[in-house]
Amino acid sequence: MLDLQKLSTGYSMPLVGFGTYKIRGRDTVYQVIDESLNVGFRSIDTAEVYQNEEDIGYALNSLLPKYNLQREDIFITTKLAPSYNGNLIRIEESVQRSLKALNITYIDLYLIHWPGATRLPENSTNNQILRTKTWDKLVELKKQGLLKSIGVSNYTINHLEDLMQYCQDVPPAVNQVECHPHYRQEELIKYCNEKGIHVQAYSSLGTSSNTNLLKDPTVTLIASRLNVSPARLLLKWALQQNIGIIPKAVKREHIGDNIQLNFTIDKEDMKVLSSLPQHKYCWDPSNVY
Ligand SMILES: NC(=O)c1ccc[n+]([C@@H]2O[C@H](COP(=O)([O-])OP(=O)(O)OC[C@H]3O[C@@H](n4cnc5c(N)ncnc54)[C@H](OP(=O)(O)O)[C@@H]3O)[C@@H](O)[C@H]2O)c1
Repeated sequence: MLDLQKLSTGYSMPLVGFGTYKIRGRDTVYQVIDESLNVGFRSIDTAEVYQNEEDIGYALNSLLPKYNLQREDIFITTKLAPSYNGNLIRIEESVQRSLKALNITYIDLYLIHWPGATRLPENSTNNQILRTKTWDKLVELKKQGLLKSIGVSNYTINHLEDLMQYCQDVPPAVNQVECHPHYRQEELIKYCNEKGIHVQAYSSLGTSSNTNLLKDPTVTLIASRLNVSPARLLLKWALQQNIGIIPKAVKREHIGDNIQLNFTIDKEDMKVLSSLPQHKYCWDPSNVY
């Protein structure tokens, strides 16, 4: 049974979820979702821009009965594409499209994928205005019951400060951000913890594009001493700080590995992992106004 995180909305989200960026194609998605449910994942992270919502919906349709699961046993997160930020009609259409593609009647967690709008320069002050418009629309869709919890992704403290001042009655439940020992975001995490915003880490293993993090000599040394894989060590590093994780994997052995997190990293090793040099691997929202 996976640990649950109670969100500010009152709903509970598994701390361990399954990431699906770059997992494409009906057969591949089916096999990967099949294996992830088989080993015990009960939470799936997707986004409209990943272009796999329909294949995930197709897979869940036949796999839920296979594992004797109901819709409510699965926590589904999806995200609003940056091109729709601030466009009220497009936002509503996008939510409806995701619901239809995923073959569900509600989304457990809906995130604003990115603080900026694709059509604007990063430094445009309009980004801030569009964010508040987007938030109002998501609050409306939440009230209609289509979205159970709403949150943000890639928001810096500045973006959150704006939003927190603006949306006192429905604050963001989650901020999904890049976070791992090479990019720890300590200030942001402290801020989110203080405000009751749950932090969910993405790219915990350093993305699909490079293995710098998984091959970091400190990571591999501590992992071998604890007799766990580097991936498990990196995932547990986040969980021990109550940061949610959504590792992505296609390989069967990786999917099984990523849910075996029943071990402890001692304080000394946590400290060592939390003092590695910093390097960001994903897109950087810090210049988005
Ligand atoms: N909100 C955002 O802006 C944002 C941005 C990026 C990601 N995300 C979300 O976060 C999820 C995870 O991040 P990510 O996709 O960047 O990648 P990640 O989870 O950091 O790493 C995935 C890579 O690690 C490999 N891997 C997985 N388990 C492993 C294991 N046990 N041992 C060794 N290698 C392992 C995978 O290989 P195989 O696939 O070959 O098994 C893949 O190459 C995404 O899928 C997405 O859902 C969100």
